[in-house]
Formats: sequence, structure tokens, C-alpha cells
Amino acid sequence: MTSREGASAGKAEAKRALRIGVIGAGVMGSNHARVLAGLPDITLVGVVDPLPAHRTRATEMTGCRTFADLDALIVEGVDAVTIAAPTHLHHEIALACIGQGIHVLVEKPIASSVEEGRDIVAAAHRAGVTLMVGHVERFNPAVAAIKQAISGEDILSIAITRVGPFPPRMSNVGVVIDLAVHDIDLIRWFTESDIVEVQPQLSSAVAEREDIALLQFRTASGVLAHINTNWLTPFKARNVTVATRGKYVMGDLLTRQVTECFGFKPDGAYSMRHLPVGHDEPLRVELIAFLHAVRSGGAPAVSGDEAVASLEIATRCLETPSKPAAASPARKGPRRVVG
Ligand SMILES: NC(=O)c1ccc[n+]([C@@H]2O[C@H](COP(=O)([O-])OP(=O)(O)OC[C@H]3O[C@@H](n4cnc5c(N)ncnc54)[C@H](O)[C@@H]3O)[C@@H](O)[C@H]2O)c1
Repeated sequence: MTSREGASAGKAEAKRALRIGVIGAGVMGSNHARVLAGLPDITLVGVVDPLPAHRTRATEMTGCRTFADLDALIVEGVDAVTIAAPTHLHHEIALACIGQGIHVLVEKPIASSVEEGRDIVAAAHRAGVTLMVGHVERFNPAVAAIKQAISGEDILSIAITRVGPFPPRMSNVGVVIDLAVHDIDLIRWFTESDIVEVQPQLSSAVAEREDIALLQFRTASGVLAHINTNWLTPFKARNVTVATRGKYVMGDLLTRQVTECFGFKPDGAYSMRHLPVGHDEPLRVELIAFLHAVRSGGAPAVSGDEAVASLEIATRCLETPSKPAAASPARKGPRRVVG
């Protein structure tokens, strides 16, 4: 083949519709399938789920084929898959796909343990396939607006609230691995710095695993960060505030309203403005970013290493014992304080 023929063959390869599969057709996988079915230049080969009812729902939603197991999808030939099966299966499914040279986007958290996460990263590296992790909050336009507003600022502290009711189906993880891992990723991404200290407070009010967590962190760059998360709030709330030396930025990730206070004056006066925020669906932007990384061979927007680092911090929160505040016997009031 001449170099010109080689170049045009390369272009044709880049233009060829990528063949994609979705593994897991539950809450998240259904959304993956819905979004992928609407994207140009790809073929949604099918959706894998062992549950017939979930396969039927996926077909009704997207018109795509479905398969009861992964092997049946692989036989059809896929370039890439998105994995939205339960977290404890991410390791096994990701390794099976990577072993076939298939590019992988795996939902957050990357795996059930740091060791399994590292295995996936190493396997993808050895196989030379793209591995991206679905930390979808990074693609929320409100988060992008916050990131832009704090660009070049001297960040002092970050506080994130992510609360809501219990999920309809309890998985085998608590709020730290399920919810706080989103915000650990955001803290690392906003500060572009590793977390070097963790001070967790956890409690299980109703569930077997922790369902309330107040987590405090310090980054290597000296930023203080706090996450308030639980499954005991009757409504969903997702709020981020970032204090920098020159600005105070507040974002509601659900309503996508982002406001900044700036121009602090010695007399306490300051200015305030709402920032422009886009309307894109975060999952759509995430999946387009994944497909772009697959096509270009470039670095994915959220790497496996970053996802493992966030999982490592979440795991450390679960393993760090809280320290007693005082040596002397502590006064213990009733849980229900009356007046
Ligand atoms: N990025 C986010 O904001 C976000 C939100 C929710 C869930 N998630 C993640 O997505 C993953 C799935 O969560 P969910 O809420 O959709 O769970 P879910 O229980 O609704 O769906 C999981 C699906 O996987 C199927 N499944 C089980 N074993 C399988 C196998 N061997 N092969 C293929 N499919 C299999 C189940 O039948 C079910 O349909 C989890 O890792 C979760 O952490 C991410």
C-alpha cells in the first residue's frame, strides 16, 4: 500500500461508523442506549442484560437488538462498549472486553476495589485500548461553568452537597462509594491536585452500610474541601460552592444556576453575576468525548488512573477510624433533644 493509499485507508477507518454495545440495561445503561441510539456515525449493535424485562425495555426504547450475555454481543463484532452493569461486575466485564481489544467506557465507580480498578487500567494499557470512566458530573454544563469561573483563581475551599432519598434498589455499596465518589472526582479535577488528608464522619441511620457521610479533605495544594452526602433527604440537592481569594462561586448542579460574587471591597461591598451555562445533556457530551477518544486514539476525558485515585480516596474514607475528641468521659445527650 502506498503512503497516500495508507492515509486514505486511515481516513476511511476514522470515518467508518463505530460499532458500539451497551452492557447492562438498568437505570444508567438504558440512558446510555437511548443517547447512543441518537448519535451520528455509530452503529448501536445491541444491549446486553440477563433480565428479559430490561432487554424488552431497551428494544422498545431504542429499537436495537439485545443479548442475554456478553459473548453473544462480542460475536456480532463491536469496536467499543459502555459498561453499566452493577459495580461488582465492572472488573470481570471490563477485562473480558479489553481482552478482545474492545475500547471501554465503564461507569463510575471504576470497580468495587482499588485493586480491581488498577487491574482494569493495566489491562487497557497492555491491550492499547481506550479506557474512560463515566464520571458524568464533569460534563454537567454547570460544573464546566464553575471550572471556568475558578480558572486562574487561588482556590481556598470547596463545599459540595449531594443529598437525596434512598435509591429504589439498594446496591451493595453505601453513599461514599455511590455518591461521594462523584464529588471526590470534582474536588481533584477543580484543584488539579491530589487529596492528601481525609477526615470522614460516617453513620448508618437506616441502611446496613453508611447512609450519611460528612467528609473533609485537604489537597496537596492546601485546598480544604467538604462533602455532605446522604440518602435521608426527601428531595435531591446537588450544590457546589468554591471560595477563592478573589471570588465566591455557587452552583446548583440540578437547576444549573451558577453565580459568582467578586470585586470584594474593604467596606464589605461586592458584585454578583449569574454566569452563562450551557444546556447539553451531560451523558451525551460524555459519550461523544469517549467516541472521540476512541476515534482519535487520544487521551480520554476521564482516565482510568483518575478514577482509581478517586476510588482510593473514597475507600480511605471508609477505612479511616474517627478519632475521639477528648480523653475524659463525654457527655451524651439524648438523640431527641427537647428544648
Ligand atoms: N454516572 C452516574 O451518575 C451513575 C448513576 C447511576 C448509576 N451509575 C453506575 O452505573 C452502574 C449501574 O447502575 P444502575 O443504577 O444502572 O443499576 P441497575 O441495577 O439499574 O442496572 C444494572 C443492570 O445490569 C444488569 N446486569 C446484571 N448482571 C449483568 C451482566 N453480567 N451483564 C450485563 N448486564 C448485567 C442488570 O440486570 C441491570 O439491568 C453502577 O456502576 C453505578 O454506579 C452511574
